[in-house]
Amino acid sequence: MDSPRQSDASTPLEPCSPVGVDTPATQSSVLFDGHLEELLRNFPLDQYILVTGGLGFIGSHTTLELLKANYNVIVIDNLSNSFQNVFDRIQTLASQYHEQQGTKTPSLHLHAHDYRDTVALRDLLQQYQITSRWGTLKSKISGVIHFAAYKAVEESIRNPLKYYSNNVSGLVDFAMTLGDFGIKTFVFSSSATVYGTLATSGLPLKEELCVHKEELFTEHSGSEKIVQSGCTGITNPYGRTKWICEAILADLAASDPEWTIVALRYFNPIGCDESGLLGEDPRQTPTNLLPVVVKVMTGQYKELQMFGTDWETEDGTAVRDFIHVTDLARGHIAALSTANDGKLVENFRTFNLGTGTGHSVREVVETMESVSSKHIPRKAAGRRAGDVGSCVAVATRSQDELQWKTEKTLKDACVSLCNFLDVSGLSS
Ligand code: UD1
Repeated sequence: MDSPRQSDASTPLEPCSPVGVDTPATQSSVLFDGHLEELLRNFPLDQYILVTGGLGFIGSHTTLELLKANYNVIVIDNLSNSFQNVFDRIQTLASQYHEQQGTKTPSLHLHAHDYRDTVALRDLLQQYQITSRWGTLKSKISGVIHFAAYKAVEESIRNPLKYYSNNVSGLVDFAMTLGDFGIKTFVFSSSATVYGTLATSGLPLKEELCVHKEELFTEHSGSEKIVQSGCTGITNPYGRTKWICEAILADLAASDPEWTIVALRYFNPIGCDESGLLGEDPRQTPTNLLPVVVKVMTGQYKELQMFGTDWETEDGTAVRDFIHVTDLARGHIAALSTANDGKLVENFRTFNLGTGTGHSVREVVETMESVSSKHIPRKAAGRRAGDVGSCVAVATRSQDELQWKTEKTLKDACVSLCNFLDVSGLSS
């Protein structure tokens, strides 16, 4: 292991708290009330979750939900596609929540460097090492959620090596360093994009359609079929990086049973925290549907182009499984606690995070119009390259094995986005 070095790039905004500071005194009269386990779960213990890309769209919402669920969080984010003020907003919302609950807000630290900066990473991980009562070193970091990655499909086609370098090589080095520090519970941001053109095949998108070792798969009809590892028809380099990363992590888990790895395949995350304080606020020009709709609503874009009105769907526009980002964020917490409780059915497991229900592009626009009472100018346009007509999750595995399901609706997501526009002063 490298010797610890101070890194300029690592800038914790808050000093790391010494062991025990975040652990409140426990009153014995409360403990013997018969709910010891639950009480302990609800106290911020001196355990941390490391979140890479924790200030991005999904990362920031997950960080907030982790804090609400009493996890201490360390964020690594190089601010390449996010803003520093998101950190303050997460802190504010978490404090407000815990004040209302009468509970102590867990700690949140930011390390503003690239997750690939191995020197800074080792330095950070050293800070969270403690000596166990048997004299061995162990980490206070009990799990990692890895969001940091590039995700612009079109850019990945123009510059694939940038994507393979950051998303794939970065992951390999990151996992190696984590392993050196004995941190082996890992939640990976994957995507429904791994299903590629299977999305148009009409088959229900079950996790078994894309596996990393030979598996027995029970079909819709009840008959059993052996599926080989691999994937069919991934349409772009970004999607391939997600599939390759999953494959690497599956190999890692197979090689070492101490690793517990979950790959979460996101469908289409939309909306924002209901406070309107955390929106989707990328530095890059948005291409996803809802961020573009928001640009049209604020007058920054003249109209929405509806890409494809001739798909084989009810109204001709494409259908997606839009999932509220707060539901998605909570899916990570379900994954983490299932992994840490040792309840995963195998030590590498993939899960779809979706609602199981599709909505069309037209339906989304109309819902937003009804919630905002605003007309959203749009016009029909040709199909966008690489698009599929329909992509909807089968969400049963995550319901059964993670005890997680979505609670929020498309309308909730549209309301939250209107709150975001109000809070940002963009709604007029
Ligand atoms: C995109 C990514 C996918 C990623 C997912 C989640 C592509 C090809 N795929 O999926 O890899 O995992 O986001 O973030 O970019 N639409 C319009 N007008 C617009 C923008 C979008 O009609 O201005 C349509 C699209 O053509 C599509 C639907 O809205 O039919 C959803 O598009 P988008 O939000 O970009 O998500 P996906 O393409 O499903």
